[in-house]
Amino acid sequence: MTSSIKLHDAQKVGEASTVHLRNGGVSLLFTVDSFGAPSIAHWGAALSDADIPGLLATSSPALLNSSFDIPRSFSIAAGRAHGWSGTPAIEAQYDERPVEGFSLVESTAGESQARFVLADADSLARSTFSYRLDDAGVLHASVVVDNTSVDRRLDVAAVRTLLPLPGRAVEVMDFTGRWTHEHRPQRMPIQDGTWLRSSRRGRPGHDSSYLTLAGTEGFRFRSGEIWAAHVAWSGNQEMLVERLPEGAGVHRAIIGGGELVDAAEIRLQPGETYASPEVVFTWSDQGIDGITARLHASIRSRPSHPRTPRPLLLNTWEAVYFDHDLETLTRLATTAAELGVERFVLDDGWFHGRRDDHAGLGDWHVDADVWPDGLKPLSDRVHALGMQFGLWFEPEMVNPDSDLARQHPEWLLRESPSLEWRHQFVLDLSRDDVVAHLLDRLDRVISENGVDFVKWDHNRDLHAAIGAGGARRVHAHTLGFYRLLDELRRRHPLLEIESCASGGARADLGVLARTDRVWASDCNDPIERQQIQRWTQTLLPPELIGAHIGPTESHTTHRHADFSFRAVTALFGHAGLEWDLAATKTEERTAIAAWAALYRELRGLLHSGVTVRGDDVDRGALLHGIVRPDGGEAVFAWVRVQTSATASTARVPIPGLDPTSSYRVRVRDELGTVSRHEVADPAWLRCDDDLVCTGAVLAEGIPLPLLNPGHAMLLHLTAVG
Ligand code: GLA
Repeated sequence: MTSSIKLHDAQKVGEASTVHLRNGGVSLLFTVDSFGAPSIAHWGAALSDADIPGLLATSSPALLNSSFDIPRSFSIAAGRAHGWSGTPAIEAQYDERPVEGFSLVESTAGESQARFVLADADSLARSTFSYRLDDAGVLHASVVVDNTSVDRRLDVAAVRTLLPLPGRAVEVMDFTGRWTHEHRPQRMPIQDGTWLRSSRRGRPGHDSSYLTLAGTEGFRFRSGEIWAAHVAWSGNQEMLVERLPEGAGVHRAIIGGGELVDAAEIRLQPGETYASPEVVFTWSDQGIDGITARLHASIRSRPSHPRTPRPLLLNTWEAVYFDHDLETLTRLATTAAELGVERFVLDDGWFHGRRDDHAGLGDWHVDADVWPDGLKPLSDRVHALGMQFGLWFEPEMVNPDSDLARQHPEWLLRESPSLEWRHQFVLDLSRDDVVAHLLDRLDRVISENGVDFVKWDHNRDLHAAIGAGGARRVHAHTLGFYRLLDELRRRHPLLEIESCASGGARADLGVLARTDRVWASDCNDPIERQQIQRWTQTLLPPELIGAHIGPTESHTTHRHADFSFRAVTALFGHAGLEWDLAATKTEERTAIAAWAALYRELRGLLHSGVTVRGDDVDRGALLHGIVRPDGGEAVFAWVRVQTSATASTARVPIPGLDPTSSYRVRVRDELGTVSRHEVADPAWLRCDDDLVCTGAVLAEGIPLPLLNPGHAMLLHLTAVG
């Protein structure tokens, strides 16, 4: 699937040209339209050379009544000068004069990459549109805007990457949520108008539309054609699906997005540049799982993708909260190591003045009252036990009750004083002195204590976020955050970082270009977690999604769940524990050790395989699994989150396997009892011999036990013969 890239020389304006990018079973075809800005003639299934002349010959619509006197088109720089009445690709102006009418100056293109440089009608601004179609068929698009004038300021209000949708994309699905309830899907028909999802939270947010999917009617996990988009950015952003009555050239609607910038945030002096975040576009005709397969393959191909086995982790938050004490934590670490934990993470509460969440943020040095000998005795003990040592920070935040806020009130982004959030404000990371200070503090604590892993938290929205000059600073602050992460990683190349934002409020591919996992949610209740992980996994592979076993009674929902259900749920991510092990019973420790061994056995498969989610299950049940890319092995979870409305155990299709291979099907029961709502299991489960059947039969379905709600059964399938 690899395609070599040979860039050829710039084409001259006015030459009739096409650029065809093809990779990973996907094609993106550009033409230069009558206004001189490239248009996208096709985004979807790979085209053959024979398809192209016909597509080009049919790429212009009829001339309709009450319209412009030439056919409508939709260009990559769509705007008013191009006859586009929808949301423009670029909104910018010199003084009061809009910058419009972008047309092609030069282009370079290879088999899977293209770059188009456009100048506005007055040749004062340039925008460079870059497209790269990777081996997984995922398109990475971005735009750079330059102020090429000699003496005028260019104010940039929006730079969006927009792609066309065909008429058969009739439904849109995206996500919403709240704290402890992240990434819940919502879907609706595409109608005339703009479906716009914006985040003005300074982070994507718990309600982030972190993936927007437009698809054919009734698209599901395993079926339907889908065009999806994600903005790889950790600050303010917007995503839209838009349909105008007049369509978009021969296309019916558009999808795309970009950073959401505030008035006066991007003011380019002559020679200055604005670079948009990457917008990641994915097409598949294999349903949501097809989109997921491409995204996971793309994400896993990044050079920075974590490649070592994901260490089983214990996080101290729900175990001890702020109650730090060397003896207790040493005991916790010792028990954790005995049970198979490989990374011990000390959460919030270790730094100066941090006895609860009212004070201390900003003062990143070890609290001498609680840790008279520093953290070294604990980190040494953790390392001696063979585990990595992790530490919690919330670098961008500051409590008014902190030495830092008292010394440097000018470092805070201004909010109305009444708009504290968890008793904290945000530091202005657009300032070099703030970034340098944080870098110094983090660097010291990490170096002095042998920190292998940082849990990087971000527990409030940036709201007004006004900098010292009186302007909103979210854009520059976000870049400062990235600079800080980049420099820290440069200084500590082996350090791993987790992106947490009160759970999953910052789980985008911008932050993940600089971090190694996300904390999906503060909710460890497996009923909720099944949904949170299912949908977070639509974008992110499981090895990037932190998933912990909490105590029997969830601390955020107060619902009780059996160990086996919590354990199966946490297995399908980067697994960990968040539980006071000192309070566990002997049989619970035995079960944790068995689970840890199972995680070690299966993580190679779980963290490299293809995500599969069954559509044809009874309401209240979920079937999800991971299949090795060669189809040789798979693990599925058969989950019941609610009681069944039927009294049936009809065949449940187990999709995604090789239809011609025979599989041995085993129930992995080492995680404990899975409670049933039945007299006896289906006959195949009562046989002494394991079931062996083909992938084709499994895709047709096998009867599975009717479980009681709050239970999950683990099926392990291995190809035989
Ligand atoms: C946030 C995180 C939690 C925990 C606390 C500590 O809420 O999401 O996991 O780290 O902060 O204050």
